[in-house]
Amino acid sequence: MNELFSNRISGVPPSFIREILKVAVDPSIISFAGGLPNRDLFPVDALQKATNDIFIEDGKDILQYSSTEGYLPLREMIAADYKRKGLEISVDEILITNGSQQGLDLLGKVLLNEGDEVLIEEPGYLGAIQAFEVYSAKFNSVPVHQDGMDIDVLQQTLKTSNAKLMYTVPNFQNPSGISYTNENRQAVAQCLSKTKTLLIEDNPYGDLRFSGEEKQSFKALLPEQTILLGSFSKTVVPSFRLGWIVAPKALMEKLVIAKQAGDLHSNYFCQRVLHRFLQDNDLKAHIEKIIAVYGKQKAVMEKAIERYFPKQVTYLNPEGGMFLWVTLPEKLSATTLFDKAIEQKVAFVPGDPFYVKKRGLNTLRLNFSSVDPDIIEEGIKRLGTVLHQLLDN
Ligand SMILES: Cc1ncc(COP(=O)(O)O)c(C=O)c1O
Repeated sequence: MNELFSNRISGVPPSFIREILKVAVDPSIISFAGGLPNRDLFPVDALQKATNDIFIEDGKDILQYSSTEGYLPLREMIAADYKRKGLEISVDEILITNGSQQGLDLLGKVLLNEGDEVLIEEPGYLGAIQAFEVYSAKFNSVPVHQDGMDIDVLQQTLKTSNAKLMYTVPNFQNPSGISYTNENRQAVAQCLSKTKTLLIEDNPYGDLRFSGEEKQSFKALLPEQTILLGSFSKTVVPSFRLGWIVAPKALMEKLVIAKQAGDLHSNYFCQRVLHRFLQDNDLKAHIEKIIAVYGKQKAVMEKAIERYFPKQVTYLNPEGGMFLWVTLPEKLSATTLFDKAIEQKVAFVPGDPFYVKKRGLNTLRLNFSSVDPDIIEEGIKRLGTVLHQLLDN
C-alpha cells in the first residue's frame, strides 16, 4: 500500500501530541499534556436554547447548504468585534473556516509550492508545522523569548530568506505562553515591511488575558501583509469547529476557491447555532468567567511550582491563555522526565517537537486549563518529587 501514498503525505509524521495523549488517557494519570479548554465552562444550556430556538424559527433553512464565505450575520459579528478592538475589517475580508486549523491548511494550499520557505516561531505551534508540512514547506525558524521574537535573528534571517509566510501566535503562544510586547511587535513589523513576506497572526487565545494590557495587532502595524486567524474554540466550544481567516481581497478570492474545492462551506448548522448564541448572550461576560477560572488555575500551578520544583527549574509566567512553559537544566531531558513522571502518574508534553531547527530537549509544556486546582497542586507535587530525584543525585 505504501507505494500508493503521495509524496505530500508520506513525509508528514503523525502528531506527537496525539501519541502522548494516548498514554495520558488512563484516568488515574494527572495530565497536563492536553490542550483542551475546560469543559465545565462550556455554555451547554445556552447552546441548547439557541439550537431549539433556531429549529423552531428557521428549521428548514438551518439544514440547507450555504455559502462558502460563511453565514453573513456571523461574519458581521466578527467584523464588529474587530471594530471594538480598533481594527477596521470589512465582512468581505472574512471567511468562516472549519476551525482556525483549516485556515492554516488553506493558506498552505493557496500559497505554498514544494520547498517554499515558511518562517515559524521557535518553539512554535505543532499544528501549524504539520499543516505546512503537508505542502512540503521548508521551515526556517526565529526564536521567541519572554518579550517576543528575537529581532536580531529575524533581521539576519530576512537578509537571506525568501519566505512567503511567517507564522506567529503573538498572544499567549502555544506552546510557550509568551506574548510579544508592543515594542517587539513594532520591530517585527518594521523588519517585515521591507519584504514581501506575509505575516500570519494566529490568535485563538488573545481574549483570554488574566493580566497586563491588550497589545497591538500586527494588522494595525502591517495592514497589507497581515493575515489574521481567529477561533471560537477557546471562547465558546471547540466541537463546532468554527474559526475564521481575515485576508486581503486578492488572497481571499483564492482562499474561497480552495475552501470550495475542499468542503464547499463550514458546517452551516453550527454557524447558525453559534450566531444565535452570540446574539442572545453576552460573550464578553462568558469570557470573563473563563478568564477568572483559568487565571486561578494558572496561579495555583505557579504557586505549586514555586513550592515543589527545584530552583534550577525555571518557567515563564503567562499573562493569559492555557499553557505554562518550563525549562529544565540543560543536562536533563524532558523525555527522561516524561518516562519517570508517567510512572508517578503525571503527564506533560516534552518541548522538543515544537522546534523545527534547534533542539529544545530540556523544555516542556504544562496545560492548566483542563485540570482542577487541587489536582494541579497534586500533579505538580508529583512532578516536583521526580525532578528532585533526577536532579539532586
Ligand atoms: C495556536 C493555535 N492555532 C490554532 C489552533 C487550532 O484551533 P481551532 O480549534 O480553531 O482549529 C490551536 C489549537 O489548539 C492553537 O493552539
